[in-house]
Amino acid sequence: MSKYIVRNNGPLKGQINISGSKNAVLPLMAASLLTSEKCEIYDTPALRDVDVMCSILRRIGGNVQFDKESNCVEIETQEIIYNGADTELASRMRASILVMGPLLARTGRATIALPGGCAIGARPIDLHLKGFEAMGVKIWEKHQDGFDYVEAEVDKLKGCDIYLDFPSVGATENLMTTAVLAEGITTIQNAAEEPEIVDLANFLNKMGARVKGAGTDTIRIEGVKTLHGTRHNVIPDRIETGTFMLAAAITRGSIRLNNAVASHVKPLTAKLRECGAEVVEEDDAIIVNAEGKKLVSTNLKTLPYPGFPTDLQSPFMSLLITTEGRGTVIETVFENRFMHIAELQKMGAQIDYSDRKAVITGNKNLRGAAVKATDLRAGAALVLAGLAAEGTTQVEQVYYIERGYENFVEKMSSVGADIEYIE
Ligand code: EPZ
Repeated sequence: MSKYIVRNNGPLKGQINISGSKNAVLPLMAASLLTSEKCEIYDTPALRDVDVMCSILRRIGGNVQFDKESNCVEIETQEIIYNGADTELASRMRASILVMGPLLARTGRATIALPGGCAIGARPIDLHLKGFEAMGVKIWEKHQDGFDYVEAEVDKLKGCDIYLDFPSVGATENLMTTAVLAEGITTIQNAAEEPEIVDLANFLNKMGARVKGAGTDTIRIEGVKTLHGTRHNVIPDRIETGTFMLAAAITRGSIRLNNAVASHVKPLTAKLRECGAEVVEEDDAIIVNAEGKKLVSTNLKTLPYPGFPTDLQSPFMSLLITTEGRGTVIETVFENRFMHIAELQKMGAQIDYSDRKAVITGNKNLRGAAVKATDLRAGAALVLAGLAAEGTTQVEQVYYIERGYENFVEKMSSVGADIEYIE
């Protein structure tokens, strides 16, 4: 069982280069299936989830070359030899569902194994399926060898108006990558507005698609006949950015984040300023300075973009344990994203919580303990807590963290963190 040993080594200082976004590159890689020509995606982070997506695309018939030195992944799928993602691969990553839209658009068929829920919630795909059906797709749900599958078929995809009951990121991405090759106009209303949606729209338009309105709650897509290959640079990872901003704050240090996009992390910047940290926004960098500052608690509620991101909820909660006063955290996006609280309590945190709301009594001295990551962001939150705790913290199940943070230990160590990876 791989783990990190984390010790408090005082304020973190220095600078970190932000990697390409995991949650942007996965839909881009899936969208490359929409053409038989080569797509080159630069600034692709070397992450386990990216490796899994490479395997899924190879299984489908893609020629995939991922050069981790240059962070460039080249994908060329001249022929589809398998229309889906099987149980082994799909069970390793929920984002495997993102190949469903491109496969329907390219071949009219898809068979996707559905991994069950995960630590943070049931993760249903009803909104994806409802959108596909609106475009004329026939859907069957099957159960075989202990796994749930979705089979889907369509003769001709028809553009239509789709309203999403919830601005689901994955459903918006899946429906975008289907509608680009559908006949006629598709509008996606109550669409997700995340920066990753905008990056996907830019990628699709460079392939010859006609997508308008990405980044707003209504996306309009005019179907075209074919799409061609393209080159694209993935946007920087706003959740990695936020995680390191919080590392500076929780250690009362000062870190400069290069290649960060300030407009992508506005809610966190606002909250850190409410706590009393200094945040300087430059064109392509962010500096967080909490040196010598007495930070105070604040309240937050997670919401779909442009609200406070659910992925930074647990790392922010770690900070609130160390600030003066009492803070509340309300999680509205996932139904079970407080699994890290029990682990933080082992470190001395005082947190009272119900299913969606947590009250954190601040100014507590954290003490090192053996704790477990329950999802990749909760794992990062426990490392942050360990950086501020007295004594040694052992974080187990760090494969979660390795899924979503490129060179996490190296980057943390480069600004002075005492963190060691143990097999
Ligand atoms: C994406 O997941 C991200 N993953 C998640 O990041 C992120 O937390 C989430 O968006 C919200 O921002 C990737 O982009 C690969 P959703 P996704 O569909 O698309 C419900 C991380 O840490 N829902 O917006 O799965 C769902 O249950 C990961 O990097 C339905 O009810 O998120 C959840 O409660 C964790 N029916 C809410 O919507 C559906 O058909 C948000 O889910 C789809 C979703």
